[in-house]
Amino acid sequence: MFDMDRRHFLSAATGLGGAAILMPAFQNSALGGEITVAGSSKTSPTAEIGKLPRVKQKMVAPPMLPTHEQVAAGGPRVVEVTFVIEEKKMKIDDDGTEVWALTFNGSVPGPMIVVHEGDYVELTLVNPASSVMEHNIDFHAATGALGGGALTMVQPGEQVVLRWKAVKPGVFVYHCAPGGIMIPYHVTHGMNGAVMVLPRGGLVDGNGKPIRYDRAYYIGEQDFYIPRNEQGEFKTYETAGENMSDALAVMKSLTPTHVVFNGKAGALTGKGAMKAKVGETVLIIHAQANRDTRPHLIGGHGDHVWETGSFRDTPATGLETWFIRGGSAGAAIYTFRQPGLYVYLNHNLIEAVMLGAAAHFVVEGQWNNDLMTQVREPSKIIT
Ligand code: CU
Repeated sequence: MFDMDRRHFLSAATGLGGAAILMPAFQNSALGGEITVAGSSKTSPTAEIGKLPRVKQKMVAPPMLPTHEQVAAGGPRVVEVTFVIEEKKMKIDDDGTEVWALTFNGSVPGPMIVVHEGDYVELTLVNPASSVMEHNIDFHAATGALGGGALTMVQPGEQVVLRWKAVKPGVFVYHCAPGGIMIPYHVTHGMNGAVMVLPRGGLVDGNGKPIRYDRAYYIGEQDFYIPRNEQGEFKTYETAGENMSDALAVMKSLTPTHVVFNGKAGALTGKGAMKAKVGETVLIIHAQANRDTRPHLIGGHGDHVWETGSFRDTPATGLETWFIRGGSAGAAIYTFRQPGLYVYLNHNLIEAVMLGAAAHFVVEGQWNNDLMTQVREPSKIIT
């Protein structure tokens, strides 16, 4: 298995042409013998899994999370979710810059899945016949088979079902990983998202005291690498994948043209702003599948922050800015204490202001003069 993968990575890295799009990344032979699907061996818990209650989780578009309980009401369940892959043209800024996005369920990032530790996620991954590429999914929360990537490769017109057990509580990235250069290509064209695995008893602080939230938002940060023409204007393409060689050249510069939240610069501002009330506790999950970032809430803080995403770790407290490593998700909790507009951004301010990585919270409630007061309005300097 390992040799197959390594050989594939090496061979794929040499073929940069557009024809690579339709090449199967993991040949079926790569699965032979060494990767077994859960349930095929005598130690398989399939019979027990068959007795577990099954629930369907309705996927919702980010920044929202699916309806979920913070504390598990009963024992482990099999949580069924469906992702339909969509290759679609999307506008990523107000200037109309376009990308042929590769998406799970049509959004960048893909929808969040929420389960509890000990639950099973059973994903049906559908790649419609209208797609031009093969896709798969690697869950960082899952164990084995390249995070499920080796068991989920679907050609256009195919679907697959993967079940994995959520054994690590935390927030985790998932992404498409079809092999070789297609891995960064698909991820930087939007094909990533996050999973939250809550402890069965819910979140706790460093003293084991329960932490509960009134609202939860999920921010997927996306770096895009859009090719330009000779005049320096962003190029457009007729079909998905047509930008392959141009995009790979921009990607290799490691210099994104856009760094955005929720698929588009400004998507979470104005009408898309996230809402809260003074006194409400908000959970903010921030995922970045490819590149480091440093979330900051201007005028607020991270009361409790699981920077690496692991809910088994004691959350840091009272942070000004936190760090999300590329390829991971992190979670922050904040109780709003003042009303008004808050900017939530990537505190590389060039990326926030010039490339798009900024969002708004609009908070209702009573102003607290004790926490902040404008003692004197701007006026002429007194001499
Ligand atoms: Cu893909």
